[in-house]
Amino acid sequence: MTNILAIETSCDETAVAIVNNRQVYSNIVASQIPVHKLYGGVVPEVASRQHLESINGLINQALEQAQLDWDRIDAIATTCAPGLVGALLVGQTTAKTLAMVHNKSFLGVHHLEGHIYATYLGDPTLEPPFLSLLVSGGHTSLIYVKDCGVYETLGQTRDDAAGEAFDKVARLLQLGYPGGPVIDKLAKQGNPQAFKLPEGKVSLPEGGYHPYDASFSGLKTAVLRLVQKLEKEGERLPLSDIAASFQETVAKGLTKRVIKCAVDYGLCKIAVGGGVAANSALRLHLREAAASHNFQVIFPPLKFCTDNAAMIGCAAADHFKRGHTSALNLKVRSRMHLNQVMELYEQ
Ligand code: KG4
Ligand code: ZN
Repeated sequence: MTNILAIETSCDETAVAIVNNRQVYSNIVASQIPVHKLYGGVVPEVASRQHLESINGLINQALEQAQLDWDRIDAIATTCAPGLVGALLVGQTTAKTLAMVHNKSFLGVHHLEGHIYATYLGDPTLEPPFLSLLVSGGHTSLIYVKDCGVYETLGQTRDDAAGEAFDKVARLLQLGYPGGPVIDKLAKQGNPQAFKLPEGKVSLPEGGYHPYDASFSGLKTAVLRLVQKLEKEGERLPLSDIAASFQETVAKGLTKRVIKCAVDYGLCKIAVGGGVAANSALRLHLREAAASHNFQVIFPPLKFCTDNAAMIGCAAADHFKRGHTSALNLKVRSRMHLNQVMELYEQ
């Protein structure tokens, strides 16, 4: 029995959880969305301050909810990279201090490895290898999951993340922040075929297109041009048709890449994570396409798709089991490639 207390503060959710491998004893998330909403997006300084204000209370709540005291905690884990440096520092300093005070092991966790481990929380029987599609406000990646700490990034976005594209399009349609849920809701009343938008293919120097990489900035500009054209023509903006057409383009583009990648690498299990995993069009298209190839597709419960600390604890538990712990002088990093995960641990 190894109980891990985990902290996640890489962006705009302050989260604390206690897990025992793939079992979650408590999972508390304090979202900062209402605060950042006032500014139309995440303000890093505000995020750090909010983390600082809530973290201690959330740790106490997590212990209470799990009905555990410090004696029963074996290790303390926190996200160390990638993310907003000031925000990461709050979680990391807290975790290191608690590890020192209570004489526990300390583990730094890569945020994306956490998102991959979220899949195990939804399906504890799952084992690698599988293909992971991570689609959030900060990331869009296709990852070949081979083992704990062993990942190959097969595809990614060349510019905006998928969620970022939803947020930017929502902003230009003046629908508020975060954009994904509003666009998803509005799209339900619209015609997804109303406007033809570019899917965002990435050209290769040798000709042709990258099979798995995506680009969303062209799509966002195409929506902007469409809005400008319709406004110039004096038309009332058909918001639901624009939302539905945009969403359809993103969902179909992602589905095409995921399926091609799974076929090429012979991976018949596909796990989806990140806030955009909530998108109804993505769920529909990916489920349909996966079924026609006899692939299994796993969408973990949404509370584990969006940022949370249970996924960080689950990843830390696997590393801890293998004897990996982090040094107390480990630094936070705003950027870190997933294939550098093992740099976080002393072995
Ligand atoms: O994983 P997440 O909570 O935080 C990050 O690590 O970024 O993802 C947040 C992103 C936002 O960009 C939000 O607009 C998007 O996920 N999102 C959605 C939906 N719900 C949230 N995008 C499309 N459809 C949704 N239903
Ligand atoms: Zn995330």
